[in-house]
This record gives sequence, C-alpha cells and structure tokens, in this order.
Amino acid sequence: MAKLRTLAIIKPDAMEAAKAGAIIARIQEEGFTICGMRQLKLTLEQAEGFYDVHRERPFFGELTTFMSRSEIVVMALEAEEAITKWRDVIGATDPAKADDGTIRKLWGKDVGENAVHGSDAPETAAREIGYFFPGFEVRPTA
Ligand code: RTP
Ligand code: MG
Repeated sequence: MAKLRTLAIIKPDAMEAAKAGAIIARIQEEGFTICGMRQLKLTLEQAEGFYDVHRERPFFGELTTFMSRSEIVVMALEAEEAITKWRDVIGATDPAKADDGTIRKLWGKDVGENAVHGSDAPETAAREIGYFFPGFEVRPTA
C-alpha cells in the first residue's frame, strides 16, 4: 500500500508544558517517518490562514489566538494510512472523550487546548504540509 503524509502540530499548550519530546518519541514509536520538522511561532494572521476553513465557526477567534500564543512544532509525517493512523494516536478533539492512551487524553486540557493537530483528509494534508514546508524544505516523496 502507498505511503501517505499528514501534518502534525504540537500546539502551544503542549509546548508550554514541555511535552514536545514525549510527543516526538511517541511519533517515532508508532513508526512514522518524520519527513520535515520545524519550530516556529505563528502570527495571528498566519494562524488565521492555516485555519481558514474554520473562519465562520464560533471558536475561530479563540482558536487562532491560542495557536499564535507561543511556539509550535510542525511535522510532516509519513506512514501507511498516515492520516487515519495519526488521528487514532491523537484521539478525539475533546480530550475528555478521547480513548485512554491517546495523546489528547494524556496531555490535552480541553476541546480548545488539545495538545496536537492532525490533518483530516489527503487534500487538507497536502495543503497543510505546503503551508509550512514549501518545496525543498521537506524530504521529496519517493
Ligand atoms: P485539529 O484540526 O486541530 O487536528 O482538530 P480536530 O480535527 O480534531 O478538530 P476541528 O474540528 O478541526 O477543530 C480544530 C481545532 O479547533 C479547536 N476547537 N475548539 N471550543 C470549541 O468548541 C472548539 N472546537 C474545536 C480545537 O483546538 C480543535 O483541535
Ligand atoms: Mg481538524
């Protein structure tokens, strides 16, 4: 089966709680290949661009303020079925509803500050990876 890619983000709450190392270790234990990895701090405008699809949602302001609050780590992850595989590892959006052992259950605080991001489909994964890793900054696909 062909390998897929997904975009993972370690969100500001998890960075502030010094969970980046544990989350990256988990990513490697789960068998993902990290094809690109950067640490950066989004401006509010950059966070709004990333979450453009949620612009009309009531939580858009809260979400973009949170995502631009402090540093994040963005990673392009590769694996078979990477998109669903990573969403299984991170768990439900609301940490209170996430399965035991998932990253959001372990380290998410609430439905807004939920530790990590994962792409939800191949098209959004391609757009999201391109948002943070233009061209040569990410390993070429085989
Ligand atoms: P993500 O995109 O970050 O991987 O999360 P997701 O697919 O599980 O959830 P999505 O519906 O795409 O929402 C994106 C992010 O917006 C924040 N959110 N806040 N206050 C709220 O009701 C609410 N709902 C969503 C979360 O940070 C969520 O991950
Ligand atoms: Mg989403």
